[in-house]
Order: sequence, then C-alpha cells, then structure tokens
Amino acid sequence: MTIQKDLMQAIISSFKLDLDGLHGINHWARVYINGKIITDLHGINGEVVELFSIFHDSMRLSESIDKCHGYRGAEFAKSLRGKYFELSDRDFDLLYKACKFHTYPIKIDNIVIQSCWDADRLDLGRYGLPLNKNFIAPSTVENLKIINEAYTNGLNHYEPPITKIWSRRKATQKTSAFY
Ligand SMILES: [Fe+2]
Repeated sequence: MTIQKDLMQAIISSFKLDLDGLHGINHWARVYINGKIITDLHGINGEVVELFSIFHDSMRLSESIDKCHGYRGAEFAKSLRGKYFELSDRDFDLLYKACKFHTYPIKIDNIVIQSCWDADRLDLGRYGLPLNKNFIAPSTVENLKIINEAYTNGLNHYEPPITKIWSRRKATQKTSAFY
C-alpha cells in the first residue's frame, strides 16, 4: 500500500480539530507504525490497517466523546475510495467496519479488524491511561516488547518522522508517493 500525497491532503484539509491534538496527525502516525508492527507480527497484509490509521479519527468533531466519529470516518473513506486510493470490495468492507466500530469496547475474531483496533488502543498512553489488555488480541498481548514500546510512545507523545512528510504534502503533487 502506498499512501499518496493527495490522499493525505484530502484528509488533513477536512480535519476539523487541531492537527497536533490528541486525535491528530501524531496519533495517526503512531497508529500507522503500530499497525505495521502488528500486521508483520500476524503475517497479514497491512493495507487496511494503514488506511485505518489515517481515517479512523479523521472525522472527529470533538477531542472528547464523539460517538459517531467512527461512522463518519468510515463514510469519509467511502467517499475517497476510487479517487484517492484503491481497495478491493472485501478489504474495503474490513476498513469500513474497523473505522465504524473502533470505539466499541469489544474484541473480534477477524485479525485484520482487530489489528486496526490494537494499533489504535496501544496508543492510549497519550491520555496517561492504563492499557486494558482485555480488548487487545492475545497474540499481540503476548509480545510485551511491542506493547511496552507502543504504549511508551503514546505516553511520551512521540512524534514519528513521517508526520513531517505527511504535513508537507501539496495537493497538486498527485502522483508522488511518500511511504
Ligand atoms: Fe484513534
């Protein structure tokens, strides 16, 4: 999967909150990194998780409780599919469900969707909250190094270098891929 600059431009320009806030670009990037590590761990294709990282909170209207933002993020992804990114029907269905239900306090047997949620939930340290391992896949929880590093990154509000590239994008540079 290659996230194109014009896709990031569309997401960033539509984002209504502070891009540097708790649900902004640094969080997206940490989820993106967590997702890469987790999908490698599970030996699955990372396309859906990568797209989840940039869509799942993209339509938030509040840093606090915002019950419908997952659904709005899923619908936003639907509106950009085919224009800014391509995904098979099967994988898009996974992306849509992962975004729509990501705030529900549940686990799921589908490893792609659960990997999306794990990548997001491992960043809860940014709130200073303890990690609830009951909602993380057992196969992820078993890897304490991954859990601890991801949680610490959130706790320290780590700013992944990729955010510099993401936020430098230009809407006119439609063919350039940067990650
Ligand atoms: Fe999130």
